[in-house]
Amino acid sequence: MKQIAVYPGTFDPVTNGHLDLVRRASERFDRVVMAILENEDKTPLFTVEERIELLKFAVADIPRVEVDSFNGLLVDYLRQLNAGVILRGIRAVSDFESEMQMAMMNRKLAPEVETVFLLPSVEYSFLSSRLVREVARLGGSLTGLVPVEVEQALCKRFGGTEKMAPI
Ligand code: PNS
Repeated sequence: MKQIAVYPGTFDPVTNGHLDLVRRASERFDRVVMAILENEDKTPLFTVEERIELLKFAVADIPRVEVDSFNGLLVDYLRQLNAGVILRGIRAVSDFESEMQMAMMNRKLAPEVETVFLLPSVEYSFLSSRLVREVARLGGSLTGLVPVEVEQALCKRFGGTEKMAPI
């Protein structure tokens, strides 16, 4: 049977850390679906449609990876896809507690689903979408930390400054 893994997240925006992780996963699963949560309480910088477009650009060259969005419970979405694995990244010990809570809640809701944690490359261990948004807002360079299309989208969103990569 084909092993389908769902990599859920906010991806606001996608970073090279997310991409490092999904590349690793693409070598281990038959299909990996990066799924953006639609109904989040927090106000995102990019709309779901914008995030889908940025993600699609970013994963275009990675085999077996797809992009989608979902509403409601993650485990219900996995059931729709007949997927058995939730994929999450752990950058540091500090990520572990909340990730373990989510994994255990998902196990309670759907015992047939397994959460698999992967570690991104150490060069991305400090990287988060929140920090990317902050650095972009304040005009810092994000070269090497996000895909070029994301850098362009951030530059456009924040009006662009000379410190950011010229587009
Ligand atoms: O990128 P994020 O913000 O860390 O992703 C969080 C996400 C989307 C994985 C999480 O909020 C989620 O799965 N939400 C769906 C709602 C759900 O199923 N909640 C109960 C289990 S934790």
